[in-house]
Amino acid sequence: MKEYKIYTSVCIKTAEELSPQEQALTERAKEATGSSYSPYSHFAVGAAMQLEGGKIVTGSNQENASYPVGCCAERTALHWTAANHPDTRIEAIAIAAKSGGHFTSLPIAPCGMCRQALLEAERRQGHPICVILFGTKGVHIVKQVEELLPLSFNQDAMSI
Ligand code: THU
Repeated sequence: MKEYKIYTSVCIKTAEELSPQEQALTERAKEATGSSYSPYSHFAVGAAMQLEGGKIVTGSNQENASYPVGCCAERTALHWTAANHPDTRIEAIAIAAKSGGHFTSLPIAPCGMCRQALLEAERRQGHPICVILFGTKGVHIVKQVEELLPLSFNQDAMSI
């Protein structure tokens, strides 16, 4: 029998410890919660993507009366970026969420579906996407999406 262990390294920073770029991206994610359409969950999520060259693209969760039709903030931002800036590298994504009108104290992490979508974008561009998860009590930073979705399903698995 063989065994291997997989580690995820999470860096925990206070708001004051963020770099100016991390701070700016986190602020844009927080602002993006303002455009959330979430009348069903009342949970407003904002995502901000730092693109190579300095541009920041944002997205928010968009819900629907037919619940599965809704889209998370991360994929709203990711797909808009892919459609409008297909050749521009994504450097980082920041995510923030508001519940009952207040930012969550604990960071919220992307759901499994968003991790799958972000991981394919990361592999496709051949460059890590840093993930910054905002919480009022601390900000969690993971260096690349790969660490959030180990043992992933990907196109390599589809070949014989
Ligand atoms: N949501 C996101 O936008 N991103 C996440 O990472 C987790 C969940 C949204 C989906 C739904 O609109 C609401 O939050 C409650 O699940």
